[in-house]
Amino acid sequence: MKTTLTIIKADVGSIGGHICPSAQLVNRIKEFVSNEGRRLVLDSYIGFTGDDIAIFVTHTRGVGDHDVHEMAWNAFVAGTAVAKEQGLYGAGQDLLKDAFSGNIRGLGPAVAEMEIDERPNEPFLFFAADKTDPGAFNLPLYLAFADPMYCPGLILSPKMGKGFRFVIMDVEHTGEDRVIELNAPENLYDIATLLRDNERFVVEAIYSRVTGEQAAVISTSRLHNIAGTYTGKDDPVMLVRTQSSFPATGEVLAPFGIGHFVAGGMRGSHTVPLMPVALNCPTSYFDGPPLITCAAFCVHNGKLTEPADAFSHPFWNHVRDKVARKTLEIREQGFSGAAMLPMSELEYTGVVEKLNVLETQFYLRKEKLAAVSG
Ligand code: 13P
Ligand code: 13P
Ligand code: MG
Ligand code: MG
Repeated sequence: MKTTLTIIKADVGSIGGHICPSAQLVNRIKEFVSNEGRRLVLDSYIGFTGDDIAIFVTHTRGVGDHDVHEMAWNAFVAGTAVAKEQGLYGAGQDLLKDAFSGNIRGLGPAVAEMEIDERPNEPFLFFAADKTDPGAFNLPLYLAFADPMYCPGLILSPKMGKGFRFVIMDVEHTGEDRVIELNAPENLYDIATLLRDNERFVVEAIYSRVTGEQAAVISTSRLHNIAGTYTGKDDPVMLVRTQSSFPATGEVLAPFGIGHFVAGGMRGSHTVPLMPVALNCPTSYFDGPPLITCAAFCVHNGKLTEPADAFSHPFWNHVRDKVARKTLEIREQGFSGAAMLPMSELEYTGVVEKLNVLETQFYLRKEKLAAVSG
């Protein structure tokens, strides 16, 4: 059976700044999807990561379906009304256009979806991040799908012996999608060359080179490219199928033990490590640290199991302690150097206005001396 897995997520308001949505807001979205989605979807799961709510639905309508996307958009519009009633901060924050038009891509909410031929058993992982951008997934995906140091299946399992095909998008290119396809392991150094630049090149999808099946899909929207200014962080989502011809679940989770530094945190403008946390976890210190949640599922005939919370295991307490330590260490240097993002990312914020004013106050010493003496 062909099943479509669709995640559409947005921040439409949160309690106490950018912490988490209210229960009333989440319930409104659940109620909307359960009523309006009934004729469209086979199953659904709604959860939050920091201040972002994800609507995850299964159906048979294929990717980019007008009605499924419109239903999710309308659910977020209904949620925005609740956020306004409750005086939540950032009500409707990620709904960057006035009305739905055909497809939710380019309107603000993040989308990750794939149509699959269900295997007899179909385990997969649904990741959602808060206070960061889609480049945060580059390193974990590279390590899980291309590095036998993290994914021993690449050498132990004949089902993965030929490696994986990476589809990488140039997210600085606006308008038409600009992508490149590269094979691991042959093009490993090319893949690494692109993926080191998390703000420009982002993994969009990964395919098995043994079976041709899609293994992963990642939301690639950069909100500042849509809004032209800073309106909030992209807060990406991704789906990763696991086991058999794909990496095992534990191989996909393992790279998140690094707590690697990503773009995000306060005002979306800092370098902060990514913290794996339990489902429905709020955000905290310095509007961060950037969070990642992982709901593990199986699906059969479009029906989902309950989610297993992959980062709630005690092992991750140790990782969280490490990430907290790394966060405090980089925060000690405030705005200086590597602690704040480069100008290419900050140019969507108020810093540009400040620099424009300061530009007019610079002078050439030689010219000024000549003017005084002359
Ligand atoms: P969100 O994108 O999660 O709303 O975060 C915005 C921000 O800048 C927090 O400081
Ligand atoms: P305000 O300037 O409205 O407080 O917003 C700041 C912020 O939350 C940045 O994301
Ligand atoms: Mg927010
Ligand atoms: Mg957010």
